[in-house]
Amino acid sequence: MNTNFSIPSSTLGYVDNRLHFHHKPLQEAISNYSTPFYLYSKQGLKDNIEYFHSCAQNFFDHPCIHYAMKANSHPEVLKMIASLGHGVDIVSLGEYKLAVSAGVSPSKIIFSGVGKTEMEIEEIISQKESIKSFNVESIDELETIQKISSRYNQITNIAFRLNPDVRAQTHQHISTGGSCHKFGMTSGEIEVALAQKWPNLNLVGLSIHIGSQLKNFEATKNAINEMLDLIRRNDLRHLSFLDFGGGLGIFYGPHDHDLTSAPDYFSQIKSQIAPFFENSQFPQIIFEPGRFITGNAGVLISKVVRMKDNGIKHFVILDAGMTELIRPALYDAYHEILPFDRRDEKDEIYDFVGPICETGDFFAKDRSSTLIKKNDYVAIGNCGSYARCMASTYNAREIPPEYFIEDIK
Ligand SMILES: Cc1ncc(COP(=O)(O)O)c(C=O)c1O
Repeated sequence: MNTNFSIPSSTLGYVDNRLHFHHKPLQEAISNYSTPFYLYSKQGLKDNIEYFHSCAQNFFDHPCIHYAMKANSHPEVLKMIASLGHGVDIVSLGEYKLAVSAGVSPSKIIFSGVGKTEMEIEEIISQKESIKSFNVESIDELETIQKISSRYNQITNIAFRLNPDVRAQTHQHISTGGSCHKFGMTSGEIEVALAQKWPNLNLVGLSIHIGSQLKNFEATKNAINEMLDLIRRNDLRHLSFLDFGGGLGIFYGPHDHDLTSAPDYFSQIKSQIAPFFENSQFPQIIFEPGRFITGNAGVLISKVVRMKDNGIKHFVILDAGMTELIRPALYDAYHEILPFDRRDEKDEIYDFVGPICETGDFFAKDRSSTLIKKNDYVAIGNCGSYARCMASTYNAREIPPEYFIEDIK
């Protein structure tokens, strides 16, 4: 058993009251750059990928990582995934094109998503090299893939994404495994599909993805039981892979102290499925981490435009807004906000807000912070995932640039 792995350490923190990101003092590093912008670390990315992979290897033979590139599809991120031999999970033709142009082999691409269009499916099926699997989310999608595969006289690999009807403990907008959610197929729907003939489809796997930033393992355990029941009832032990999706949570702040760790996560999955496959060939095990790979490898850098105190609230108005990071507005998400200089004076309570014409344009409310002044710089933590990729041009703003700390001299 490989025990030679350790959790990537926190990469954003103070040294002598000056904020550092990956060992570089931010104040000096960014003096020539105008704000706001995203700042990533190649080393941080690499550490996260290697940590996730080596933890998984501790429990499974040849686990397969398919990075959920919706989290951050920067070409450098995808190139690193490809160069380390991993694959991706995509949800659109656009993501397919980005992945292939970054060097990801189509044989390492899984296509998920409830709304794959005929055009997207056809464009991918018509390529010389087939993808690893279409993770199918409805019978209608199955019929579309069958029709197009038949037209191209091809056999296409598919997997069923099971909707196990579980309630994942996370924000309701990123919980995806309940029967009231649009994702996946119920076991009943999958059994209806299994009873039919699909001459141009090759069933290679089953997948689940019940949500993102999962707080604990409970719902995953129930989902896996549902998956194993489906396999037992339909004699599917021969499938070549089981895909457990993404969702492993990362540490954003005070509410995240008791998250399931990566080793616990893999260990619990292993103990649940190992007895089940005792007398048959163990399928390949796939994971689709997104946030875990890129989340803490990026920050959003912003400048304080002005301070505003109305007697009730003390606002810090930043030059970044919900257009650059929508997670607080969308999911009430917590992000650390750290000024470049930590001052000795007493902490203050602030609302950190952006310049956008929406009351929902905030990063934190009633947040205790070291004293902040006009023209200070701040770093907003954990912006490597679901930040730039969800950015918008609302209020006719420009999408800010992205840099890597290693490229800053
Ligand atoms: C199918 C699928 N796989 C993987 C992921 C990645 O999830 P996370 O970033 O929480 O790991 C998602 C994200 O929602 C997803 O929809």
